[in-house]
Amino acid sequence: EQLRNIVQGMPKAELHIHIEGSLEPELIFALAQRNSVSLAYPSVEALRQAYAFTDLQSFLDIYYAGASVLLTEQDFYDMTAAYLKRAHADSVRHAEIFFDPQTHTARGVPFETVINGIWRACQDAPISASLIMCFLRHLSEDEALDTLEQAQPFLDKFIGVGLDSSEVGHPPEKFRRVFERARALGLRLVAHAGEEGPPDYITSALEVLNVERIDHGVRCLEDPVLVECIKREQIALTVCPLSNIKLRVFDVMGEHNLRKLLDAGLKATVNSDDPAYFGGYINQNFVAAFEALPLDASHAKQLARNSFEASFIEPEQKRAFL
Ligand code: ADE
Ligand code: ZN
Repeated sequence: EQLRNIVQGMPKAELHIHIEGSLEPELIFALAQRNSVSLAYPSVEALRQAYAFTDLQSFLDIYYAGASVLLTEQDFYDMTAAYLKRAHADSVRHAEIFFDPQTHTARGVPFETVINGIWRACQDAPISASLIMCFLRHLSEDEALDTLEQAQPFLDKFIGVGLDSSEVGHPPEKFRRVFERARALGLRLVAHAGEEGPPDYITSALEVLNVERIDHGVRCLEDPVLVECIKREQIALTVCPLSNIKLRVFDVMGEHNLRKLLDAGLKATVNSDDPAYFGGYINQNFVAAFEALPLDASHAKQLARNSFEASFIEPEQKRAFL
């Protein structure tokens, strides 16, 4: 109870949230109706019932289906505004938000519709927010390069690039050239690695892509040399406890390695990943992990501190948060 209050009121940054993963079933139905899109589920309840995942891919299939109701700039605005309002209620002071343009451009939605809607909601938000454009790793590097090309007129609207979607079989090195190009443009670099994929993917995300943060990265503990490197370089890990349980990265929360990551001296943070699908926003991720693991108020403070330190906000603003 006491911990719940500490977590609730604790200023924090959220660094791993896919905006399409914040689309609640109620909003999916409202947008489907507004846009005359037909859904494969008869009701909000039936859709929610389908949220029983066995692994990352079983989630991604339903996540991409949910995103199919997003057509207009207003849709992207409404989705993003709803997330930012919810994050504000969880004492999030700054969010770095992933978006997946290829999920939408592949359906014929213009790139500018996607980014303008999301960006405008960030401008109107009650908290500080910036955007990170993710490439879908199940698609080709040429398609990622084409997406970066389309993004050129909007370089003032996002701060970095990331890599998400199906991990196993799509190692970071597949995207070497597009990350090189993004780096040359002055963009910040992150990548999902070591969620379902092996620790080697974390190593190549760092060494081949030169990323500054690892999204998930929980499998790093399988490789002691890698752990030393992550620690030495002060690379942050954006950990998502509820996601890891729902996608069976760990069987139960009591087996999650969050405490071990902190004990190893790694800069771990707590985040929600796809809160509409995994049963909770950021504070629920804190509470679920803290109830199941030997973590106390000092760990909560450390995790909040890590979230600001690992963020891409300017040093001056960062000092104000710390
Ligand atoms: N896209 C949305 N959530 C994701 C996750 N947890 N891993 C990879 N791709 C994703
Ligand atoms: Zn993710």
